[in-house]
Amino acid sequence: MNSPKSHRITLLGTGLIGRFYCQALHSRRSRDRVHVVCGVPEESAADFSRAFGIPKWTTDMAEAVRDPETDTVIVGLPNDLHAKAVQLAAEAGKAVLCTKPLGRSAGEARSMLEAVERAGVFAGYLEDLCYTPKTLKAAASIRAGALGRVLWARSRETHGGPHSAWFWDVKRAGGGAIVDLGCHCIEVIRTFIGKGVRPVEVMAVSDTLVHPIDAEDSGIGLIRFENRAIGQFEVAWTFRGGLDIRDEVAGTGGTIWLNHFLRTGFEMFTASGLGGYVAEKADAEKGWIFPSGDELTELGYADMFADMLDAMESGRPAVETFYDGYVVNAVMDACYRSAASRRWEPVELFEWRPGAGHGREPAVVADGASAGSGEDGCVLIKTERMPDGTVKRILRDPATGGIFQEIGK
Ligand SMILES: NC(=O)c1ccc[n+]([C@@H]2O[C@H](COP(=O)([O-])OP(=O)(O)OC[C@H]3O[C@@H](n4cnc5c(N)ncnc54)[C@H](O)[C@@H]3O)[C@@H](O)[C@H]2O)c1
Repeated sequence: MNSPKSHRITLLGTGLIGRFYCQALHSRRSRDRVHVVCGVPEESAADFSRAFGIPKWTTDMAEAVRDPETDTVIVGLPNDLHAKAVQLAAEAGKAVLCTKPLGRSAGEARSMLEAVERAGVFAGYLEDLCYTPKTLKAAASIRAGALGRVLWARSRETHGGPHSAWFWDVKRAGGGAIVDLGCHCIEVIRTFIGKGVRPVEVMAVSDTLVHPIDAEDSGIGLIRFENRAIGQFEVAWTFRGGLDIRDEVAGTGGTIWLNHFLRTGFEMFTASGLGGYVAEKADAEKGWIFPSGDELTELGYADMFADMLDAMESGRPAVETFYDGYVVNAVMDACYRSAASRRWEPVELFEWRPGAGHGREPAVVADGASAGSGEDGCVLIKTERMPDGTVKRILRDPATGGIFQEIGK
């Protein structure tokens, strides 16, 4: 019997996401190991390698990528270093998994997509929030038709602002809250509406309400899809109370509400505190706090790496690809154009790939709405049982356009 494959990994980045990634990689599949870690300053890389039992560490990104003993490169670096890291991995002929956002703009993301395609290496887009257990179950239910035709998907991510200086520098990050958090929301929305449905145009507003920075610290966007479904996202670096991640999906036959963090059913009051970390971006360490039972799983990291590494081994694309990352960047570019012009702006894609494969099929279009045909050729709009026990039927006569109601038992 063949033993399952394992991977030796070069991990670039020893910050918040590097730590989550390393813990997730060493847990679920357990046979994969980070073999080389790269970070700055030197002590950060050395400490990280000691903490996680990683054999080699360096501050030199090229040296880490080219290490002859690793086959996969994982990019957990500030946004302005993603393109360089992916370029190095493609040149080294190694599989590469890159964190969000893929690029700082669609142009940068496209160059990264082209680099991995030219080199013929496996590439995955590390969008963890498409892999939370709740999102996976919700998306599978939608694909199975539980909600009928999806009309509206809303995704929200807000917190009090990022934890490192580079995020706040618009040149290094490529934007503010929209690039940092909107990228998650946009891909979650695509997951629910269907990745085979093209995003067509965008209307967005953004502002810098609280922080002394050039980038936006709040934003709201509407995304119109080719099937007329609407995506809606809300992002902010101004929210007080922790990390708020929520989604809603409305279809002709059903509704889903998801609460991923904070109010998930785990609420604790402590007068003394836990003595340290509570959960990512927690706003309080005492009083009422909202811990996470298993952050690695609840935020999607565990299932994300399982999908990426299984996909690599079985020769299928991952659920989240570099093309998906490119589409997200293109939607965000349109958001910035719209916020400036105050108009709907088109989502400009160099090509549209509805593709085939896991997670890409359009949302199921079976209609679970109450509408249907009534008597005399009239169209039934709505049926509702009233408090007095009667049943009202609202109908439209297509010949006259008139709308009327019938009351029955
Ligand atoms: N949920 C998520 O998917 C999620 C969450 C947080 C961050 N991120 C993304 O991960 C990336 C990193 O964010 P973070 O929160 O870990 O940032 P961070 O500031 O905590 O860590 C960045 C790390 O990059 C390394 N680094 C910086 N410059 C370097 C250089 N020149 N050479 C080698 N290493 C260098 C350092 O080791 C540093 O610790 C960003 O793109 C961010 O958007 C994703």
